[in-house]
Amino acid sequence: MTWQVQPLPTRGPLFEGAIAVYAEAFAEPPYSDPDRGKEIRKRLRDVHSLRRGFRAFVAIEDGKHVVGMTYGYCGAPGQWWHDTVAAELPRASAWAWLSRSYELVELAVEPRCQGQGIGSALIECLLHGREEDTCVLSTRTDSRAHHLYQRLGFEIVTTMRFVRDGAAFYIMGKRLTAGRE
Ligand SMILES: CC(C)(COP(=O)(O)OP(=O)(O)OC[C@H]1O[C@@H](n2cnc3c(N)ncnc32)[C@H](O)[C@@H]1OP(=O)(O)O)[C@@H](O)C(=O)NCCC(=O)NCCS
Repeated sequence: MTWQVQPLPTRGPLFEGAIAVYAEAFAEPPYSDPDRGKEIRKRLRDVHSLRRGFRAFVAIEDGKHVVGMTYGYCGAPGQWWHDTVAAELPRASAWAWLSRSYELVELAVEPRCQGQGIGSALIECLLHGREEDTCVLSTRTDSRAHHLYQRLGFEIVTTMRFVRDGAAFYIMGKRLTAGRE
């Protein structure tokens, strides 16, 4: 299988392909959420793509078929995820991890294509040349995704629930300043 990474437009066949891959990946355990694909289309296009630093990529197989997607933007006060995580952390830790942060918001690879390096390549493209101090994200503790993030230099900042009695998530962060000082 040959694949390549390229920027994701916010309309057209590549965009629809990315939404389909996202829906498929999150329909699998532990997320098992078939509706997640419906929610992301509008949020990505109408809210997230307008945020500062928005960047999105797809991995494409054989020049046309989307097999992976990712996007992110700069974290800022007033954003739900940013404020919810900041409230959970001691003040110094919130400052260190979130004050100049880039958020890896979504990452998904088509289930039949997982484990071949596509997720890693998408993250590398997303973070290439970013000038923020940190990259931050959340991932369910019962998913295997944190192995990938740890391999790429992320550490666990804390464990928390976004919803009472809901799933537990690792908040993970990577310092992007290495080699810059
Ligand atoms: C997490 C995900 C994007 C990884 O993509 P990928 O292309 O399989 O990633 P890579 O091949 O670059 O790396 C594989 C790593 O991911 C981890 N992983 C997570 N789920 C995996 C799966 N279903 N199959 C294989 N590896 C998986 C492995 O532990 C592996 O880590 P290792 O290489 O250190 O052993 C993909 O598994 C996925 O879409 N999962 C469902 C959605 C999800 O969890 N998204 C992230 C939410 S924060």
